[in-house]
Amino acid sequence: MIVVGGSASQGLSRAVASLPGFSLANMVTKRFPDTEYYVKINDDLKGEDVVIIQTTYPDPNIIELFILQDAVSRLDPGSITTVVPYFGYARQDKEFTNGEAVSARNMAKHIGLISNRILTIDIHNISIMDAFGDHARNITGMTEIGKFLASEGVDAILSPDAGSKDRASIAAGSAGCGWDFLEKTRIDGSTVEIKPKSLDVEGKTVAIVDDIIATGGTIIKASEQLREQGAKKVIAACTHGLYTGGAIPRLEGACDMLLSTDTLESSTSKISMASIIAEALN
Ligand code: R5P
Repeated sequence: MIVVGGSASQGLSRAVASLPGFSLANMVTKRFPDTEYYVKINDDLKGEDVVIIQTTYPDPNIIELFILQDAVSRLDPGSITTVVPYFGYARQDKEFTNGEAVSARNMAKHIGLISNRILTIDIHNISIMDAFGDHARNITGMTEIGKFLASEGVDAILSPDAGSKDRASIAAGSAGCGWDFLEKTRIDGSTVEIKPKSLDVEGKTVAIVDDIIATGGTIIKASEQLREQGAKKVIAACTHGLYTGGAIPRLEGACDMLLSTDTLESSTSKISMASIIAEALN
């Protein structure tokens, strides 16, 4: 399969292309003086199975993906798979109040137009997958996160709430440790206690796993309280490290270790999704 790597997923695209059965497309890209995107693919893609890999965040990367899909489709490939490692707009997945756009479904519909199949990773709400079209699949990065956490000697993996406990359970299954979820209890008008439903964290190395870390507010609050409850070490791990508003230093202050995958490439992207993407594509 020939990998066409978008600029938002360069490291991940190269990592996938280095695996057996994959190669990297030769292409030229540039920005016009007005910043509009240009691409020319130099390989003969006729009849080839092509994989375009591009995270759709921030907004210019969505346009870039559409242009990459157009360039690939003009070269008459055998099939086009679009891999969207981090799907931007995933959290606007319904009309929360009347008059709002349902951006997740709208973006998915357009991304699915020039693709035979779509692959996403830990999409925020699985229920929007049908908007991509008939051949869309979501895979989880929690197995790879669990493997990494096992190498850090975690005793237990926690999700920030009951609604996301499946992620903690998958990561813990892969790490071979226990899991639990955090519960919020209002103590009084100004105090909220966050603690694991059943687990005693005293003296333990615990990891909190989430699909997205954005402002870091969820993880910072939880980590502070786990430390107060006697946790020896608190690790925060997520699939998609968005880190809005300069969240990394604040998170690094509140946790002993901060980890993410390479769906969004940053200084914390220590866990690669390349092998699970390759496995899903084969
Ligand atoms: C929420 O539903 C998500 O799973 C994350 O917990 C949330 O996006 C994290 O946001 P923040 O880092 O801003 O607390």
